[in-house]
Amino acid sequence: MGKRLDGKVCIITGAASGFGKAMVHEFIKEGAKIFAIDISKKVQDLKKEVDGELHTYSADVSNLIQVAEAFKKCNEIYGRLDILCNNAGITGLVETPLHEFNLEAWDKVFAVNVRGAFIVLQEAIKMMLKSGGGSVVNTGSIGGYRATPGSSAYIVSKGAMVMLTKQAALEYVKDGIRVNSINPGTCNTPLLDDFSQEAKDFLASQVPIGRLGEPVEVAKLALFLASDESSYISGQDHIIDGGRSTE
Ligand SMILES: NC(=O)c1ccc[n+]([C@@H]2O[C@H](COP(=O)([O-])OP(=O)(O)OC[C@H]3O[C@@H](n4cnc5c(N)ncnc54)[C@H](O)[C@@H]3O)[C@@H](O)[C@H]2O)c1
Repeated sequence: MGKRLDGKVCIITGAASGFGKAMVHEFIKEGAKIFAIDISKKVQDLKKEVDGELHTYSADVSNLIQVAEAFKKCNEIYGRLDILCNNAGITGLVETPLHEFNLEAWDKVFAVNVRGAFIVLQEAIKMMLKSGGGSVVNTGSIGGYRATPGSSAYIVSKGAMVMLTKQAALEYVKDGIRVNSINPGTCNTPLLDDFSQEAKDFLASQVPIGRLGEPVEVAKLALFLASDESSYISGQDHIIDGGRSTE
């Protein structure tokens, strides 16, 4: 049996850590050619970790020029794009009531999570239109559906990802481009580094399955949506949260 992403060219943003890094590992095992983007120079370390075709690039997804240059570089190397994992994101200011939420902190979260995701999506669609189709996997969050006290910027930004997914899916369905989102509950990534073990244990206790999710579990959902196995699925939000949203 062939590999699930054999020869497919894939851009992953936020690739240096957490879900993005796990996607790099899972996708490359399935034969994808990866162009990994992250604001952190640590993205280069991926080269030591994986065996396969991988290029890394440092760029800030909220910076139009840097994103355009990154996509130009990917085009020079591979000449096409089949898959985008639009995954870079930040939590930003938390534990702050909405009426006291600092506007600069709000703008920063929106710059990365919404503007960044939009710019990256625009560039990817341009390449996919030339490549004759493709699959986009946006990383949303269950925060796109349920409010969390004190995190207004993050929650509202992830709500935007829900409609960005549907909007793009509808606009490009006839061009053979599918757009879906993955929407994780709380998972064990460096995004949680600021939380104490006690806080992580509390978060895990809230999940019906009894533990936090692991990056590899989220990456495997992204893999399915990126691959042709999900050829009839577009415009949908795929929740992966250990059963949390059943409550
Ligand atoms: N971990 C969770 O519990 C959880 C739950 C739901 C959704 N998410 C979402 O998953 C995505 C990945 O998060 P993660 O948990 O793997 O976090 P992470 O912090 O481990 O990884 C995020 C990566 O994005 C990069 N990044 C941040 N800002 C960037 C920018 N401006 N340009 C380019 N790269 C940038 C970081 O350097 C980092 O490598 C985010 O969109 C996050 O909101 C995470």
